[in-house]
Amino acid sequence: MNSATKVETGQSDEGALRMPSSSLPAFQRIGVIGAGAMGRGIAQLFASAGVPVKLYDSRAESIQQALAFNRELLERAASKGKIDADTLAATLHRLQPAHSLDELAGCDLLIEAIVEDIDAKQALFAELEARVSDDAVLASNTSSLSVTRIAARCRRPQRVAGFHFFNPAPLMRIVEVVRGQRTDDAVIARLCSLAEQAGHFPAVSPDSPGFIVNHAGRAYSTEALRILGEGIASAAQIDRILRDGAGFRMGPFELFDLTGLDVSQAVMESLYQQFYQDPRYLPSPLAAQRVAAGLLGRKSGEGFYRYQDGQQLREEEPRPLPVTLDRPFWLDSQDPDLRHHVGQLLTQAGVILESAEAPSARAICLVTPLGEDASTRIDALGLPAERSLALESFGELDKRRVLMRQPALDPQLEAQARQALGADGVPVEVINDSPGFITQRVIASIVNLGCEIAQRGIATPVTLDRAVQLALGYPFGPLAFGEHYGAARILTILQGLLACYGEPRYRPSPWLRRRVQLDLPLHAPDAAD
Ligand code: NAI
Repeated sequence: MNSATKVETGQSDEGALRMPSSSLPAFQRIGVIGAGAMGRGIAQLFASAGVPVKLYDSRAESIQQALAFNRELLERAASKGKIDADTLAATLHRLQPAHSLDELAGCDLLIEAIVEDIDAKQALFAELEARVSDDAVLASNTSSLSVTRIAARCRRPQRVAGFHFFNPAPLMRIVEVVRGQRTDDAVIARLCSLAEQAGHFPAVSPDSPGFIVNHAGRAYSTEALRILGEGIASAAQIDRILRDGAGFRMGPFELFDLTGLDVSQAVMESLYQQFYQDPRYLPSPLAAQRVAAGLLGRKSGEGFYRYQDGQQLREEEPRPLPVTLDRPFWLDSQDPDLRHHVGQLLTQAGVILESAEAPSARAICLVTPLGEDASTRIDALGLPAERSLALESFGELDKRRVLMRQPALDPQLEAQARQALGADGVPVEVINDSPGFITQRVIASIVNLGCEIAQRGIATPVTLDRAVQLALGYPFGPLAFGEHYGAARILTILQGLLACYGEPRYRPSPWLRRRVQLDLPLHAPDAAD
């Protein structure tokens, strides 16, 4: 099967494809070690999928609590008619406690979800190897440790793989199947077919920091912190703009508050170090400080937002006082749709959009940069700085509009622009100068990191996009985001960011550049695939 066919069929993994899963034995009995948030969910998932599961924890009460928790969830599903009484009874019967590791000896798949500590996981796998048969598979639910390192102490490292679920495991329909340096292809293929049997998408990845999802997710979080740290906009503004302008379900700061900034900060630090301080993954000193101050989010009652009884206290969006509109506007763009849209809005506001090539002496000048900041664009066009500001034309214009000021702008004229551009009631955000506003640079960072992941063979393009959509709930996967907004525009934005900051953080991935140069879709595989 060639790569193009692979992309079309959406298959997730070359190893799994080479080895038809029907020729491989299905797992008959699963042992789950660690009965915390993840272990109990994994146990429930496979018991529901028809496989007998034994659940072990070094704390006996954790096992009882986990089984009681699972019973309650399953009974609730039955009371809502989601499963019938026979299925409920059979599933509960398949979910049994193990009182010691010895009781797991007959399992052919052992999945560990214990504490995230390399020594503890290596010690556990050594204990398991002393008990289980030679062909039993050992899988780790680790989210940040190297699977290869966990396997390194095992007698048979070829049977060890990562099996990384997302919380809550029964509901998040994706699992990363991680191939350590010495993992057998057959182990990967068997885990993939088990995941599919349970209704989960198996996203196959080599052992690489953050695997696929936590790696791809770094762009959204670190770029948002960078924008905040540079004083371009407030956390609430950034969240509103990314929700309304780019279709994210949650803004990055709402997400930090939900996950806990301490957890996110640890992931950011860990990836940065594991990639040997590549500036693409640079964490923010702002986040480290906020963690030190205990501003962790929902769980501490205050993060980027404040919480009462678990509910976010919503602050009213500021409403500027009305001003008199007495200036015409001029727009640098020749895009007919944008001119029509802006023209209509200004007419509604009772002012005109000039049509001459150059602005009149009184006009408020709107520039529409891609990847440049307002200052650079105004300077390049030779416009009067006190009368010029930028309008974001990338992304959704009908839900929220974004204007970008620069240090020389007259505040009176900023107020006029803000009022005129919101004449139809659509909220207008005004942010400080930034190359690529907010939406452009966040989307470009996501696409660029996705291209790097594809370039390094960490995931096939299809696997990458599907994994990110399922695990992170983005409106598009990273490469599909690039196609949606146009790969050439994404490249222009990155080049603008690189020119503005001169930092290799923004260097375009060769995967992106080559496909733009050759006019190929971002999903096109490398010839050697
Ligand atoms: P947790 O703290 O809720 O549960 C861990 C359980 O393991 C506890 O019940 C503890 O008593 C038990 N345990 C610890 N050491 C043990 C040992 N040596 N032998 C047997 N049992 C032991 O932790 P959680 O959140 O379930 O995480 C478990 C693993 O899953 C970690 O590796 C974590 O990184 C990973 N993970 C966590 C996710 C999450 O959202 N919480 C998501 C994906 C992976």
